Amino acid sequence: MKIDVLFSPAGLTPPEVAGRPVFVIDVLRAGTVICAALHHGARGVVPVASAEEATRMAQGLGPADTVTAGEQNCEPIPGFTLGNSPLEMSEAAVRGKTVVMTTTNGTRALLAAQGASAVYVAAAVNLAAAGARAHELLVQRKDLLILCAGRESRFGLDDAYAAGRLILAALEGRRRRKGLNDGALAAMDLVRRYGERWHRPFGLSAAGRQLIGLGMGADVADAARENAYPVLPIFHDRRITAAPAEPHGAAP
Ligand code: MLT
Repeated sequence: MKIDVLFSPAGLTPPEVAGRPVFVIDVLRAGTVICAALHHGARGVVPVASAEEATRMAQGLGPADTVTAGEQNCEPIPGFTLGNSPLEMSEAAVRGKTVVMTTTNGTRALLAAQGASAVYVAAAVNLAAAGARAHELLVQRKDLLILCAGRESRFGLDDAYAAGRLILAALEGRRRRKGLNDGALAAMDLVRRYGERWHRPFGLSAAGRQLIGLGMGADVADAARENAYPVLPIFHDRRITAAPAEPHGAAP
């Protein structure tokens, strides 16, 4: 068994992801937004690298069936339908639509993970679903990579804590150490430090403090609602959709 945690996608090379299942974490907020959108009936989420690409892609896919969403440095993007708040991903806004999305860190991490055998999105809001899939993969002796989006290519406390929670869910609560890289050990130690309440590490993190300072504390609280959006987003062929529940042992 091998679980590696990387605290940022900076420097990630294609061989590091090739053929491995990867769990991408950006709890504040892109990962949570993707879970909320799929939970509320979006047909899919397409992560792209820039606002210009999002606009082009939305035009190509047909404006009637598409919404643009995201942020740049926490600010809404001019001309976009939606921002990057999970609270905006209501049924009325996204049901039946493709959400074309670009964000500062989250979509970058997702795009960096392309080439993996499977790319999943993990957050507090889908912890049980992501943890169950990670557990199945470990049972199948797959090596997991947990890729935190972090902040501007650096460590983010919110994502690192979430990585620790995902590992514990995957290990069904057992605190084993064998096969874990230093990042994974540190992430598990954060759970020991902060306990099981997401609010503490979220509120202390730079991302959380920035959002609270900008009046978006409700987004931080929404992102901390464990299992509120119980979907397992899977990124495949440039599009993120809700993975069907797999019978035990059939996960890719
Ligand atoms: C990101 O991708 O950097 C975050 O989702 C930013 C945000 O919360 O707006």
